[in-house]
Amino acid sequence: MNESAKPVSASQTTITELMIPSYANFGGKIHGGILLSLMDKVAYACASKHSGAYCVTVSVDKVEFLQPVEVGELVSMHASVNYVGNSSMVIGIRVESQNVKKGTSKHTNSCYFTMVAKGDDEKPTTVPKLILENKEQVKRFIEMITMREIKTKMKEEMDDARSHIHLETAAEFLKNERCILKV
Ligand SMILES: CC(C)(COP(=O)(O)OP(=O)(O)OC[C@H]1O[C@@H](n2cnc3c(N)ncnc32)[C@H](O)[C@@H]1OP(=O)(O)O)[C@@H](O)C(=O)NCCC(=O)NCCS
Repeated sequence: MNESAKPVSASQTTITELMIPSYANFGGKIHGGILLSLMDKVAYACASKHSGAYCVTVSVDKVEFLQPVEVGELVSMHASVNYVGNSSMVIGIRVESQNVKKGTSKHTNSCYFTMVAKGDDEKPTTVPKLILENKEQVKRFIEMITMREIKTKMKEEMDDARSHIHLETAAEFLKNERCILKV
């Protein structure tokens, strides 16, 4: 069992990549999947630095593509460990896209990857505690605890809602929705 502790700064990681034409979709903007792949890489790098172990991605929260990223822009993904549990770590990723020619930069989104450290036996393994050195880091750690609680509650509510769907009343329930029932 690893009882050590590490500061947030020890594993902070940034990946910067040039958005080349082959990353673009038919509309000429960068594919969401390219950005997701980069997020996963930086989350892995950050989580494995903190844990000193092989890590797997367990869940991804709050990924939104609110502003398009253009070909030729430099995308930077800044990753920090925001929270640690026993074997899990929540990695916060801030995505920024820079237009070098115009000298402009936009914050395209912030999202959270939950990663779990695994031992040589493939089982979840304990990660070092997180040393919080400023108020922002304390705030983020607490935010992640709240996010976990909200997710658990939402899952319970969703399971409950799913068990209360009655197909006999579907036609009435869906009458103002943009769908056509053919069953
Ligand atoms: C995630 C995984 C390691 C959980 O294994 P498990 O044997 O069920 O282990 P546990 O129940 O002890 O959970 C381990 C940790 O994962 C966390 N976890 C499990 N499911 C989770 C979920 N849906 N969301 C967030 N965290 C989750 C648990 O809270 C626990 O955290 P903690 O140790 O900090 O308390 C296992 O399901 C796995 O390997 N999944 C595949 C991951 C993968 O291959 N990812 C690549 C994506 S293609």
